[in-house]
Amino acid sequence: MRYFIGNWKMFGVPKSINIVKKINSFYSKDKNRKKYRVIITPPFTLIETFSKYFKNKSVCIGSQNCYQKEQFSSNTAAISPYMIRSVGAKYTLVGHSDNRSEGDTNEMLKNKVQFALKNNLKVVFCIGENKTEKNNKKTFSVLKNQIKVLERKFNKNNIIVAYEPIWSIGTGKIPSKNELLKITIFIKKVLKSIFNKKSPAVLYGGSVDGNNVKMFKDIREIDGFLIGGASKSSKKFIDIIKNYYR
Ligand code: 13P
Repeated sequence: MRYFIGNWKMFGVPKSINIVKKINSFYSKDKNRKKYRVIITPPFTLIETFSKYFKNKSVCIGSQNCYQKEQFSSNTAAISPYMIRSVGAKYTLVGHSDNRSEGDTNEMLKNKVQFALKNNLKVVFCIGENKTEKNNKKTFSVLKNQIKVLERKFNKNNIIVAYEPIWSIGTGKIPSKNELLKITIFIKKVLKSIFNKKSPAVLYGGSVDGNNVKMFKDIREIDGFLIGGASKSSKKFIDIIKNYYR
């Protein structure tokens, strides 16, 4: 199974549902539709209406983050996995670099993953090195340390890992094919050592568009994409899927 996940970040108002409707109508009719899943993560404000609308449709809805406590607590503006699930989301991102840079630690992320899974949310766990770490040849050790959050007791079928090098997010810069192949194999090796020889799906994210997706499709180890900028346009998002299967 391949995944095309659109992360809207701080984008979208109620009428933006039209973007997802267009993506859904392409996806519902695509001859390749059985080979992949489409998930859109709008901001919290839109999760309930989108989840209701797409309930029996092809597109799935997820959230971009969740708080590290399970249900209710006295944390102003926090939104728990229980609350997210109760408005119909099926997935949540955890550990996006935007949130790591605002203070998410491994310990917090472990609680997020654990409580999300407990509340029947599938977790898209994001990892990735920054530019300095890459230049200092620290990519592998950084990734290994980030993956440590995942434990064998978690159900690997409910986890997807998204490799998003920070230097690639929103910059138009992407890793070379060889570099990405090596890193994806490394990530899967570490995951296999945690999950009894079987790796969860591993996605790539960072400046994915309709042109460069042709390069990524040669790397069979990559199970799909986490798409930021291009997911805010139905045409750009659909082009990525079309060109991937072309
Ligand atoms: P871009 O596709 O805009 O580079 O964003 C990637 C990302 O951060 C998705 O979570």
